[in-house]
Amino acid sequence: MRKTILIPGGAGYVGSHTAYLLAKKGHAVIIVDKRIHNQKFSPSWATIIQEDFSNKTILDQIFTTHKIDAVMHFAAFIEVGESVKHPKRFYHNNVVKTLTLLDRMLAHDVKNFIFSSSCAVYGEPVTVPMDESNPFRPLSPYGKNKLIVEFALQDYATAYNLDSVSLRYFNAAGALPEAGLGEQHDPETHIIPLMIRAIKNQTPFKIFGTDYDTPDGSCIRDYIHVLDIAQAHVLALEHLDHKHSESSKASAFNLGSGNGFSVKEMIGAMEKICDKKMVIKHENRRPGDPAILLANPAKASSVLGWKPTHSDLETILRSALTFAETFSPDPVYSYSTSSADRAHR
Ligand code: UFG
Repeated sequence: MRKTILIPGGAGYVGSHTAYLLAKKGHAVIIVDKRIHNQKFSPSWATIIQEDFSNKTILDQIFTTHKIDAVMHFAAFIEVGESVKHPKRFYHNNVVKTLTLLDRMLAHDVKNFIFSSSCAVYGEPVTVPMDESNPFRPLSPYGKNKLIVEFALQDYATAYNLDSVSLRYFNAAGALPEAGLGEQHDPETHIIPLMIRAIKNQTPFKIFGTDYDTPDGSCIRDYIHVLDIAQAHVLALEHLDHKHSESSKASAFNLGSGNGFSVKEMIGAMEKICDKKMVIKHENRRPGDPAILLANPAKASSVLGWKPTHSDLETILRSALTFAETFSPDPVYSYSTSSADRAHR
């Protein structure tokens, strides 16, 4: 059934891919995103409202004008290091504004919510791979922001019958160049775009830490294709259609492939695809980086029926490369504000 989905942060990395997939599946998509500086982000498949996602007047207008079936919320500041330096900004944007969004939803009786959460809610894993029973010990304000919203969603489910799904992403990666979509942050801190930049320009790629307790000493991460994450949102939407028990009204799922690659393995894979060597610089550990983050995605598989189909490493890297070669430095969406201001997912 065709639904109308409101997508705060739908011009960002994960949000834009999800909005695109929803539109392709026939849903009506309304994106609210303040930071669409680049006029090129005007896709024919979405209605775009260039506003802050917590603007009450705008939200009331949207909820009055449209029958919104669900809200998928991607708008957030994401840089973990920045969150340590500027927690006030992060709590305000990621927590306070999200609570405002939830208030307006409830005021208009909109009761389906899908939330971009993160494996950062766990901190250092107790068991590897990590399932949803890992204790919550977030290492950063960013991880705490996500957890606070998840706790609010549990309480709102009980008190106000708000149905929600929180999707805890591991390392979102890859692109959909055929739709002009891909990963582009400013400043860029993520491994794949930085590897591409380093190999193209023959500038040094910095490995943050080679003394971790892992087989080759570098950090291991679970890279999950952004299109597989988008597909999980589509399934979460279907999940919200089903009547479920009180205890599962606010559910949460880990989204990872279950395969881990070290930083050194990532470098090797990229060099192989490009048939070119990278200039490597060994750096100290980056603060806040756990040695291993690896998902056990069994719950998403059994409950949502989710199965990643684009997340083999070669597909991830090739799609990111094609996006960078085709669109960089002029992708369909790009932001030019300061790093902390423009950290939509
Ligand atoms: N890395 C390098 N060199 C670089 C960039 C990254 O060695 O130039 C390493 C990092 O130390 C890390 C791995 O590559 O071990 C992946 O780093 P990213 O910056 O690409 O991703 P993160 O794992 O730091 O961040 C992701 C999400 C965050 C989320 C976090 C949870 O992007 O939003 O996982 O830990 F909070």
